[in-house]
Amino acid sequence: ETVEWDAEDAGKGRYNHYMLKEINEQPEALRQTLNGRVDLENERVELEEFPEGAFEGVDEVHFVACGTSYHAAVYARQLFHDRGIPAQAFFASEYATINPPLGENTLTVAVTQSGETADTLSALRRAAGKGGRTLAVTNVVGSTAAREADDALFIRAGPEIGVAATKTFSSQVVSLAMLAERMAEDRGAEPRADAARYLQALSDLPDAIEQVLGDTSAERVASAYADSLSHFFIGRGTGHAVALEGALKFKEITYEHAEAFAAGELKHGPLALVTSETPVFAVLSGDYDEKTYGNMEEVKSRGAPVIALTDAPESVSRVTDDVITMPETHEDLKSLLANVQLQLLSYHAASLRGRAIDKPRNLAKSVTVE
Ligand code: G6P
Repeated sequence: ETVEWDAEDAGKGRYNHYMLKEINEQPEALRQTLNGRVDLENERVELEEFPEGAFEGVDEVHFVACGTSYHAAVYARQLFHDRGIPAQAFFASEYATINPPLGENTLTVAVTQSGETADTLSALRRAAGKGGRTLAVTNVVGSTAAREADDALFIRAGPEIGVAATKTFSSQVVSLAMLAERMAEDRGAEPRADAARYLQALSDLPDAIEQVLGDTSAERVASAYADSLSHFFIGRGTGHAVALEGALKFKEITYEHAEAFAAGELKHGPLALVTSETPVFAVLSGDYDEKTYGNMEEVKSRGAPVIALTDAPESVSRVTDDVITMPETHEDLKSLLANVQLQLLSYHAASLRGRAIDKPRNLAKSVTVE
């Protein structure tokens, strides 16, 4: 008797899909990302790739990225601003057209899991061609981006097989969070007033994510709203970045329509789409949450089910039909925990529909054409 053995399946271990395995690998991936880089005693970040003063001359940062990596850049942009560093996030495919001025003190940061995305490489080459400085933030040592950029920062998430990026998003955001601290230091910024608490929260993130992974509310909510016409995601600040990522993940693997909006933009158009058939997921990131409560009321009064992602369920019970809770952490990292819940939501929604979760139709893990 022979036993069927598929090399591709073997790597999934006890999981039905690589995506679920990789979602569950996030605590370990983040431990690798953080390993040796957060110095709690001296309240600073240490990146072995960058000696003291490495970022001294940097005036501004241009992030260039695609897909999920772009959402990590949108998240990070705010963390850079918090540390006084001007930063913009561009879709890599739009960088040439938008044509932002850049000079030798502009650091163009390519955020790319694979380091092989054609649009991102093209943006990186363009920045270098205009005399700018370049940095690749990537998961793959020896990738084209890592070799071509002036410098590389490795996110150390381990191999990601599922086409839908999960653990690499978390490792990208955390890597960029650390980069912001290092860069702020070289630019002579004041240390953050909450440095000890922030760095401790970064170090504790793997444990916080473990708690999220033990929670089943995303699975319950996925099935409660399975018959919906569309899923909407809203948030402010980092919560908007994660709303964008939540909607992308949902589209990629469920093949259903999903859309993200900046919470404040709902009333400027998208509200026309809101009905009892469009559940609205609100990512409460601590960025002006009171305003987001108002936006949740706007959709609730139009009959839409409202589901909050929050660490304080009691404060939103008035405006919610359902809640997905996260453990408490530093404000800057809350949305990262919400994102893990949204990964689980998409996974279970796709699983209920019997989709090809690891290899969604029409998509590729790495897109090497522009
Ligand atoms: C493809 C993948 C996405 C990914 C994007 C950027 O479109 O399907 O999941 O986010 O490429 O990939 P990168 O390797 O540059 O991060």
